[in-house]
Amino acid sequence: MIEYDKDAIVYPYITSYIRGEIPKRQGILGELEEYAEKNAIPIVQPETAKLLETLACIKRPHRVLEVGCAIGYSAILMAQYLSENGSITTLEWDADMVEIARHNIEKAGLSHCITVIQNDAKEVIKNLTGEYDIIFLDGPKAHYIYMLNDCIRLLKKGGMLISDNVLYKGMTADDGHVIRRKITIVKRLRRFISAQMQRTELETVILPLGDGVTVSVKK
Ligand SMILES: C[S@@+](CC[C@H](N)C(=O)[O-])C[C@H]1O[C@@H](n2cnc3c(N)ncnc32)[C@H](O)[C@@H]1O
Repeated sequence: MIEYDKDAIVYPYITSYIRGEIPKRQGILGELEEYAEKNAIPIVQPETAKLLETLACIKRPHRVLEVGCAIGYSAILMAQYLSENGSITTLEWDADMVEIARHNIEKAGLSHCITVIQNDAKEVIKNLTGEYDIIFLDGPKAHYIYMLNDCIRLLKKGGMLISDNVLYKGMTADDGHVIRRKITIVKRLRRFISAQMQRTELETVILPLGDGVTVSVKK
């Protein structure tokens, strides 16, 4: 019989198979995965990391904005596929995380192209200018909905908005799965997904991968 993990949005045996096919990472990314596991730092899930890498590989972005840096794992991952002189700006409000991320980015030899801004992303994003090829939302889930207009404003035509954890352990999809204290986040995530699907400037797909990811392309 298939065991059903209440938190997983995909059957565990499928996830297990997918993860088994992902080659073990070497070097700094491998070290950061181990560090994150040991210290319970919520970095992107392995299959979401592969999606991010694949999209970055297609896009070869010049400018990337990330909301939610943590220890710098996903920023370092995306940096592999930056185009010449490309850069990543990543936002993180936790001072300890920022210190660790900056250390890791330096160790990876990427300080010249990844900048960590320590502040509340909700405030920073309002004041950003210019155009981004990829925006990766992986921070305050309850605020994605309030960041959507700025994300659209900041995306280049053809640029991608990639948002993680949008199905939030399945709670977004089904009231029966909702933990009471998470109801506000869930309601806002539902609004965020609906808004993305309805905005005529975007072409959006909802992927039941990892913890749920939306990928929107600005038309
Ligand atoms: C899921 S982790 C990011 C993981 C990272 N993207 C990775 O995969 O390596 C989310 C991060 O967002 C940060 N965060 C949450 N709310 C934030 C806010 N309003 N402004 C900036 N950072 C925030 C948290 O401190 C946390 O480190």
